[in-house]
Amino acid sequence: MNGDKNIDGKAVAAALRQEVADEVAKRAKEGRQPGLALILVGDDPASKVYVNMKKKACEETGMRSLIERMPADTTQDDLLAKVREINADDRYNGLLVQSPLPKGLDEDEVVRAIDPMKDVDGFHPMNMGLLALNQPKFVPCTPLGVMELLERYGVNPQGKHAVVLGRSHLVGTPMAMLLMRKAKGANATVTLCHSRTVDIAEHTRKADILIAAIGQPEFVHGDMVKEGAVVIDVGMNRVEDATKKRGYRLTGDVLYEEVEPRASLITPVPGGVGPMTVALLLKNTLYAEQLAWEGR
Ligand code: GUN
Repeated sequence: MNGDKNIDGKAVAAALRQEVADEVAKRAKEGRQPGLALILVGDDPASKVYVNMKKKACEETGMRSLIERMPADTTQDDLLAKVREINADDRYNGLLVQSPLPKGLDEDEVVRAIDPMKDVDGFHPMNMGLLALNQPKFVPCTPLGVMELLERYGVNPQGKHAVVLGRSHLVGTPMAMLLMRKAKGANATVTLCHSRTVDIAEHTRKADILIAAIGQPEFVHGDMVKEGAVVIDVGMNRVEDATKKRGYRLTGDVLYEEVEPRASLITPVPGGVGPMTVALLLKNTLYAEQLAWEGR
């Protein structure tokens, strides 16, 4: 492993979290306390881990936080009622419903019910639409974290060819929108590849910046990457591994050993993009509290 090519998301995220903690302390002097409510439905093991991590991160910065745990057999109406209850609760400036929801629940309808001004995930159609129109308000945390990493590592996407693998609402679609924006630190030429793309490698080999967010373990091999490319691995896949105590290991969408020698910069998994998501969620929550404070 050649560590000096690694983008250290853990360190950048720690710095961001410190910035958030300083800001929370400042606002506390004005009697303000930003708050984040997290709704967790059912018992998906990964979701439990993520939600607990988010709550802990809030507490460490001095923010208020709450996990509303609801059983897997929660009805759509009960979930919508909970969302509306938190929408109306001024103690919580941010609200997110952890995805995926148990089968039978309509996630799109739930996201539409979230107050767009509390939508710290940036998944509400209004916030997605604003991003598409280059008027970003709340932007999804993971792609925002990727943009922050590019900036902090001196990678200016302007005029570069960025190839995004994956078109999810959580990552791929907003990622492409952020990179192609007419804005400082963006202005890339963007290709978005997905499961129906013919000959993905043909596209990835042309990427100056390659962003893998398809949820397929070690999909990107060395021969799919241009020499000197910046490679961002958003993947977080659980792969069975009998040699591990917990029975699985975490791996990204990139085969690190093959790709690292060709890349100029690369995010490891774990310790790359992952920690950034939580840090940007905290920043979005600060922003939500600021908007509420200003009465906007
Ligand atoms: N599931 C995986 N990532 C996310 C995220 O960023 N937000 C929510 N709400 N659910 C997720």
